[in-house]
Amino acid sequence: MISIGEKYIKLDTPYTSMIFCRYSELLEKVYYGKRISDMPDYDILTSHKRKYGHSSSDDVITANMTFSCYGMGCDREYSVELKNYDGGYANKFLFKSAAVVDKPVIDGMPSSYGGAETLELVYEDRDYNLELRQYFTVFDDTDVIAASTRLVNLSGKAVTVKSLMSCQLDLDESGYEIYSFTGAWARERFQQKNKLDCGVFSNNGKAGITSHAVNPFFMIKSPARVGGFYGFNLVYSGNHKEVINASPMNITRVMIGMNDFAAEKTVAPGGYFHTPEAVFVYGKDKNAVAINMHSFVNGHIIPARHKKDRPVAINIWSSLGFDFNREEVMEYAKKAEKFGMEMLIIDDGWFGNRNDDASSLGDWTECEKKTGGLKSLSEELHKIGLKFGIWIEPEMISPNSDLFRAHPEYVLRNPKREPILERNQLYLDLTNPEVMDFVYKSVENVIINYGADYVKWDCNRNVFDAYGLIGGADEDYCYRYVKNLYAVMDKLVKNYPDVLFEGCAAGGGRFDLGILSYMPQIWTSDNCCPVDRVYIQESTLLGYPQSAVSAHVGLAVSGALDRKTRLKDRFAVALEGVFGYECDITALSESEAEEVTRQVEFYKKNRHLLQYGKNYLVESAFDGFASSRVIVSEDKSRAIALIYKMVNPFNTEQNKYRFEGLDDDFVYRIKPYGSDKEFIAKGDVLNSYGLDFNNLFLREWKGEYYSEIHTLVLIIEKI
Ligand code: DGJ
Repeated sequence: MISIGEKYIKLDTPYTSMIFCRYSELLEKVYYGKRISDMPDYDILTSHKRKYGHSSSDDVITANMTFSCYGMGCDREYSVELKNYDGGYANKFLFKSAAVVDKPVIDGMPSSYGGAETLELVYEDRDYNLELRQYFTVFDDTDVIAASTRLVNLSGKAVTVKSLMSCQLDLDESGYEIYSFTGAWARERFQQKNKLDCGVFSNNGKAGITSHAVNPFFMIKSPARVGGFYGFNLVYSGNHKEVINASPMNITRVMIGMNDFAAEKTVAPGGYFHTPEAVFVYGKDKNAVAINMHSFVNGHIIPARHKKDRPVAINIWSSLGFDFNREEVMEYAKKAEKFGMEMLIIDDGWFGNRNDDASSLGDWTECEKKTGGLKSLSEELHKIGLKFGIWIEPEMISPNSDLFRAHPEYVLRNPKREPILERNQLYLDLTNPEVMDFVYKSVENVIINYGADYVKWDCNRNVFDAYGLIGGADEDYCYRYVKNLYAVMDKLVKNYPDVLFEGCAAGGGRFDLGILSYMPQIWTSDNCCPVDRVYIQESTLLGYPQSAVSAHVGLAVSGALDRKTRLKDRFAVALEGVFGYECDITALSESEAEEVTRQVEFYKKNRHLLQYGKNYLVESAFDGFASSRVIVSEDKSRAIALIYKMVNPFNTEQNKYRFEGLDDDFVYRIKPYGSDKEFIAKGDVLNSYGLDFNNLFLREWKGEYYSEIHTLVLIIEKI
């Protein structure tokens, strides 16, 4: 709910409030946190009366602001940096008006849907005839707030946007702990913690794609005197930047938006530039942030038609690689059908002369020698009740391809020099409409002509050859690329709404809210080693819901350390996301085959809960060598606890686990998966004391010592 008064503007979400106060010609953000009651005035909260800058401080306005720019007495990090028509960089935006408006469409960009109300704040620079408009959207069913900024040029001369962040949030105090999610291929989104007392912390994504190196999602934990956690994310899949700037004057400024590196934009007279949408949320702890992010992504980012249970897949990549034939595929298919799986995915290698990663990207015509005819394969799979999934990497071109030989001009490159090869491939120049059409048709081809029900859209490299190539255009290359990519995806998902798309970028290198606006799930990492996955998934699940996190049971020996793990443990870890298999299911022993059948049956029975339940992280793997979580149904009548232990030292008598999210008053029956034991306990006991597994499940932990991870899956049901 949004209320606009004479002096105060208040935004309420179900459990949080944000309050702005007008003073002189500025707007101060005086409160953001747990929801508070409406009061006739909030003078007790305002700081501008008592906080003025001193000589040599970093701002003459030491109140919490909603934007910042040079020219207003501030030398901290800015959310608005323009170059005016006279070559100057100084602007002065004064508050003009506030109104509840229809949520603006951000041209060419995905953004959240289903908002309840949108607040528009307008500021004007009267000297240069510019307007800055900020938008804040609240929702009925989540505390997440969506924000974006528009620069409107009302003057008769062009203005250059050097940097325009999607939102700025100035928070009280400094000393915030920053949880950022950085990594690399096979180590995506590894949580990193830093404390910032003074200075600047920045996530700087310049890879052209969101990147393995740094995800736009991050969280900050406030110092005890403020209390609570804040989470942030961006609905964008290109270069991004998150800045946290702690002032010596004890204000922490958080900004999130597109990266300003090589990204100037010209706004013509009468025109405007609108940033991608940022989202943020306040919650009392990590779980409150994560659960709100999950409900927001499931309810307002992922297209509503995909809010349904996702199929259990078998992907042949990890076991067969590029080298497969129809017979082998059908062997997998028959086993998959027998085990109760629902979809078979043909990964890389089905097209052109693709026998390794050195050729054929762009030649999206099947290699019949391997496939035996994809259309007939799709039909055969359908007959035995399996969906047909296929891999494609449509944004890429191999120098060794028919496409390259016919259309060298399709390649993204600086004509003055050779483009940079990565994984033997180059980008297609999506700023060329003819190339956009080619990419669209490449994907459409696998849907129409090969009968794909599912498309895994891969992207195996970063952008290195982009900048300055968009001669004469008013946008930088990377931004235009992302916009055109979205245009292609948008057309595809509108024309083929029933196809299930899965995003992928050399594992999870493009895991973001932009992609999720079109594709409801994303391949999380090529690393399916359950020990490594515990860390990767834990981090990913703080910002993204289980329904988006694709997680497969991988090979028995896997990961950077060639860890040997048990099928039951790989299964238990893959339960955290959209479940499937990525191992040789044709070579299972009889007992393993029976186990896989039971696993698939269990997942299918519980998948709605596992994919959409409220996800409470109880113990973090980053704090020790164990991780546990409870996934609870909306009505709290059912839950599944997933407990992973990577180290179990000798002679440690205690093995106690607490639960979260259960109803204190319900009585629950708890059964470990794969065991005949069961016991009964009241919710308050489970939420407070928990269970001592040394007493109850000692044998489940032990038995086969070789495994590098020991897991327990507990089914919790109200009786
Ligand atoms: C990278 C993906 O993450 C893998 O799952 C697989 O599809 C390969 N690419 C294929 O080249």
